[in-house]
Amino acid sequence: MTATESAVSEPLYARERRIGGTTWLDANESPYPPPSPVRAKVLAYPPLNRYGDPECTPLISALAEELQVPRESVLLGPGSSALLQRLIAVSCPAPGDAAMWASPGFDAVEQFVRQAGAAAQRIPLTPEGATDLEGMLAAITPQTRLVLLVNPHNPTGAVIHGAELRGFLDRVGPEVTVLLDEAYHEFCDDPRVVDGAEVAKARWAAGLENVAVVRTFSKAYGLAAMRVGYGIAPPALARAVRAAGVPREIGSLAHDTALAALYAKTAMRQDVAVVIRERARVLTELRRLGYAPLPSRGNFLFLPLGDDSVTFVRHCRTTGVHVLGVADRGVRVTVGDLVDNDSFLHAAFTWAAGQGEA
Ligand SMILES: Cc1ncc(COP(=O)(O)O)c(C=O)c1O
Repeated sequence: MTATESAVSEPLYARERRIGGTTWLDANESPYPPPSPVRAKVLAYPPLNRYGDPECTPLISALAEELQVPRESVLLGPGSSALLQRLIAVSCPAPGDAAMWASPGFDAVEQFVRQAGAAAQRIPLTPEGATDLEGMLAAITPQTRLVLLVNPHNPTGAVIHGAELRGFLDRVGPEVTVLLDEAYHEFCDDPRVVDGAEVAKARWAAGLENVAVVRTFSKAYGLAAMRVGYGIAPPALARAVRAAGVPREIGSLAHDTALAALYAKTAMRQDVAVVIRERARVLTELRRLGYAPLPSRGNFLFLPLGDDSVTFVRHCRTTGVHVLGVADRGVRVTVGDLVDNDSFLHAAFTWAAGQGEA
């Protein structure tokens, strides 16, 4: 092959390299800063000496209106992590109570279940990386108090369709709280996935008060630094979660930026659309390079690399790209902006080339 031919057949990222710096693709953050009205809140923020409204009334009211629930059902926390932690703790108060989730999953859940003193019921993902709803139903015991469903699932990006979710809720006992973690909801463009908040409200209206939902401003809204998560729960559960919280835990700056972000939804959706396009491009390029990434509806992709995961993560790091290894199962890589993604693809390209030589 001549030099010209090889230059034509080689993808751009084969040669392109970021000059210095690190590419962070290990925490599913947005590659984009929040839109300008949100940034303006930070830049022009005067009262740093004030706590702000302890009840977070404006943000609670805006979320109640957006989600069409009474204000008493809205939850706020310093990250949706805090809400997950509390929902698990208040749902599993007694010794022997058990919490169930799909594994591997969002790694903090392991810690929250341990902190609650609950027994762990880890249900392996299906070979396709999906939540095994049938396996969960079969594994529920009288001790199971909570089932966590992450939709789209972290780390695989697999989704639970509306019909599957409703079928699961119909079969799970009313004494089991089902917690829907929709941290990546905004990135999910599968029309068969339904809005968990709508499903939860329909259940409540039917007198079934065992479904709660959490979401976050950390991902699609690009506000990870502010640590604001939100959710909805039936009033009694919401009261218990609030009682497990800390007074004034949402700082006024976090409150105001989250509120501004809610009013800047159009900009958020534009950024999400770019991430979705890049997700498709990275997926295609990875397949072209011989990888087998799972189709994902989150802002990340999962490469089932098995035993090679650790060395792949290490290889990426030597090129300045941080990705997340998931315990010798695979590697999760966040979809960043075009430059981030090309840096990752460059690492994937050189790894594949090295494997070929080995
Ligand atoms: C599935 C899932 N839920 C919840 C969270 C928590 O996000 P935060 O605490 O920033 O709202 C994450 C963060 O990565 C996540 O992956």
